[in-house]
Amino acid sequence: MPLDVPTAIAQRRSIKTFKPNPISPDTLQYLLELTVAAPSSFNTQSWRIILVQDEAKKAALAEASWGQQQITQAPVTVVFAADTSAGEGDLSAIYESGLATGAWTEATVNYFKSAIPQFQTTLGEKRREYAIKDAIIAATHLMLAAESLGLATCPMNGWIEEKVKAVVGLSDRPEIAIALLVPVGYAAEPRKNPGRLPLSANVFVDQFGTPFGE
Ligand SMILES: Cc1cc2nc3c(=O)[nH]c(=O)nc-3n(C[C@H](O)[C@H](O)[C@H](O)COP(=O)(O)O)c2cc1C
Repeated sequence: MPLDVPTAIAQRRSIKTFKPNPISPDTLQYLLELTVAAPSSFNTQSWRIILVQDEAKKAALAEASWGQQQITQAPVTVVFAADTSAGEGDLSAIYESGLATGAWTEATVNYFKSAIPQFQTTLGEKRREYAIKDAIIAATHLMLAAESLGLATCPMNGWIEEKVKAVVGLSDRPEIAIALLVPVGYAAEPRKNPGRLPLSANVFVDQFGTPFGE
């Protein structure tokens, strides 16, 4: 029985040691379906998700991440990449899906056909930042879904982008950025919570500086 969302959120911790146990194909499939259920800007789904399972590739990824061993210990390390050019490509499959489900009308699709390229142009250098937002939200879905399914994860920012790109075959793709690495597997350590600041420290009401709850 999967954990409910509040329980998964409360229980999730960044796990640094994993058991060697594999993730079953069915669980992995379900986890990925829940991951790509994440929202994205205009539903462009600009995340590019690479599952690294090969032992030599995991070792190379760990080397690109200052030797962080959770990458080699976990059966799968998920590389969340972000395609900054997603809004410029062929979006017909996305439009067809929105029409087929009834979520979008022809008018919505026609609006998107002009709005998306226009938005991309306006973004300019911020395209990277915007694509990374989509990828990070998907990574968050993965982390909470994994927790719910009995797995553990560790979000990771500690790596050298060019080296990670080389490992996963993205060296010649300047339009694709690396957003986050997430080892996934079964925890080999207790879930110890480093705690959080009180809400009043960084949640505000109406304007910055008016603490929540005071
Ligand atoms: C964007 C991001 C990058 C992180 N990078 C690393 C990392 O490279 N290595 C690592 O061991 N933990 C990494 N962490 C995990 C944090 O240290 C951890 O989330 C924090 O200490 C709070 O612990 P908790 O996740 O168990 O609540 C990262 C977390 C985030 C959100």
